[in-house]
Amino acid sequence: MPLTPNSSLELLFPPSLIPSSIQAKLGSDLHIRPLASTDHKRGHLEVLRVLTQAPDVSADSYTSTTPPFHPATYYTIVILTLSDEIIAVGSLFVERKFLRSLGLVGHIEDIAVSEKVQGRKLGLRIIEALTGISESVGCYKTILNCSDKNIPFYEKCGFEKKENEMVSSP
Ligand code: ACO
Repeated sequence: MPLTPNSSLELLFPPSLIPSSIQAKLGSDLHIRPLASTDHKRGHLEVLRVLTQAPDVSADSYTSTTPPFHPATYYTIVILTLSDEIIAVGSLFVERKFLRSLGLVGHIEDIAVSEKVQGRKLGLRIIEALTGISESVGCYKTILNCSDKNIPFYEKCGFEKKENEMVSSP
């Protein structure tokens, strides 16, 4: 299937928020854009399965619940091949704080690159794009949680380890 142009899609947020330098670095055979309401059929959930369980949902319920959060606070991006297949994804959630004069903090979540294309800098491009969006919407910092084995990847992306994660499970 040929790549569907942005103009034919219902996108989660304006594509101009993704720094244009990221598309230039990806080259002409890959395309980066915001998540679209019809991305169920392009392999969005398949790519997320490299991360954890992502059971299939019907195309109808996917479309009716996408975007899953208020578009002003949730930015999900995808990288596609020219055959319209999603091969890398990531999300930025923007939190409004009461401190720092109602400042904003960007949280990076659910970074996943298809196993067949890992190691080709697509994870790095997703992180560069999300931190670019975080800065352009005014976040004073961008943070994420990750496993020990992914620390070297995030260090390569310019992040540094700070503080600890605490979890409560029901
Ligand atoms: N250990 C050491 N270095 C690493 C690792 C690693 N596990 N992964 C990547 N790197 C390095 C690469 O070698 C590269 O270094 P270089 O610039 O010196 O060549 C640099 O980090 C950039 O790597 P990419 O090619 O961009 O990595 P990739 O596209 O494979 O994406 C990712 C990395 C997202 C971790 C991918 O392997 C993946 O999807 N893994 C499974 C799911 C996962 O663990 N996601 C992250 C969860 S944490 C979160 O979502 C906040």
